[in-house]
Amino acid sequence: MTLGIIILAAGQGTRMRSELPKVLHRIAGRPLLAHVATAARTLNPAGTVVVFGHGGQRVPQALAGLDVQWVEQAERLGTAHAVAQALPLLSGVERVLVLYGDVPLISPTTLQGLLAVAEDTALGLLTMRLDDPSGYGRVIRAPAGRIERIVEEKDAADAERSICEVNTGIMVAHRASLERWIRAIDNANSQGEYYLTDVVGLAAGEGIEIHATPVSDPFEVMGVNDRVQLAALERHLQARQAEALMRRGVTLADPSRFDLRGELQVGRDVEIDVNVILEGSVELGNAVRIGPNTLVRDSRIGDGVEILANCVIEHAVIGAGSRIGPYTRLRPEAELGERVHVGNFVEIKKSTVGAGSKINHLSYVGDASVGREVNVGAGTITCNYDGANKHRTVIGDQAFIGSDSQLVAPITIGAGATIGAGSTITRDAPDGELTLSRVRQQTVQGWTRPKKLPK
Ligand code: UD1
Ligand code: CA
Repeated sequence: MTLGIIILAAGQGTRMRSELPKVLHRIAGRPLLAHVATAARTLNPAGTVVVFGHGGQRVPQALAGLDVQWVEQAERLGTAHAVAQALPLLSGVERVLVLYGDVPLISPTTLQGLLAVAEDTALGLLTMRLDDPSGYGRVIRAPAGRIERIVEEKDAADAERSICEVNTGIMVAHRASLERWIRAIDNANSQGEYYLTDVVGLAAGEGIEIHATPVSDPFEVMGVNDRVQLAALERHLQARQAEALMRRGVTLADPSRFDLRGELQVGRDVEIDVNVILEGSVELGNAVRIGPNTLVRDSRIGDGVEILANCVIEHAVIGAGSRIGPYTRLRPEAELGERVHVGNFVEIKKSTVGAGSKINHLSYVGDASVGREVNVGAGTITCNYDGANKHRTVIGDQAFIGSDSQLVAPITIGAGATIGAGSTITRDAPDGELTLSRVRQQTVQGWTRPKKLPK
């Protein structure tokens, strides 16, 4: 049967106490709603419709890249009213699955299970049993066990409140039936809302057998209502990701002090120390080692690379066998070849560094092409900015830049050139020669230090 998916995301999220619409808050670096849309996509639906409302166009604007259709629910009149806004966009489908934009950890496996079990019935629910069911709608069954209806907590009688089987809100229904039931729902309840859950009573009244599929991991159906729950789901997702990585052969010094906020491609025998954050799209080759307290974002790191403690690496490429850090900052478009050494307090931006080159201490390399086997001495600065424009520095293979030199761009240092320590180089330096700019050293004979005057 063709499937359509509706994701409800119009709620305000008052308890987030935020200017940002709730479904745009992030876990693992992605908006809550994006997690749900990704899970939805794995089911290959004919269409997915997101019902937005609170925050107006901000939600569809922020998530314009999602493969979904958007429909606005101008007034939040209840979950059934929200579904009613989306149904006209799904007129061609046979079944409809309802998901929630603030329930981000629902897994494709659970949803496939629900769809499979409910295939032959007009209505299937995802349910769970909780020791403390408070806050949830309760599943009311007839003595023989047939599901009769769902009662919201606010409308429940005391006896009903003690029922521990609860509605997760996620349901699948035949579209034609769902449309009929939704038309019949009214708002005569304690909240004056059109409850989607009332479809259960209506279906039971038609003699339909309603299928309840229990969810095994309660985190999958946990909603985010406040920032405490947001953090709880973040930790749960991180633990899940860390476990999957360890099962794939990654060593994590402490899985509870590792955060992945994006997509990681990883080789064999990677070792990651504590407090490492990987963001965006990160590729780690075989036997990469990352030391403590390091952030890597959108970068490609080759086989055998060692990153020592306290580095920040963004939009960079690091060739195999290189050693980075401690305290290195690689900024966007830093591209290091193989066996490059970059040491402490070195910043590299928009530069290529050839194989075997070393920039080991206290340097800034920006807008530069550094050749192979170059040695950049401590305290070297490429002066790439004249206050108005950026200029390039080119350093040939096997050049040696003496410590504490400034290379004032645009400038070319020839292959095999040597720059004397402490030089300010403003004109091109030829291949193979020593170039330096330095005031001659002198010694003042017989000079004596000033003495302290008597008080
Ligand atoms: C709902 C269920 C309840 C279930 C619980 C699970 C109903 C009536 N009740 O209760 O049985 O146990 O979820 O968490 O469905 N929304 C809209 N438009 C609206 C109203 C809500 O888009 O007009 C969205 C909200 O943004 C939210 C979701 O629907 O994501 C659920 O709405 P909410 O009012 O929080 O329902 P609950 O009271 O949690
Ligand atoms: Ca509510």
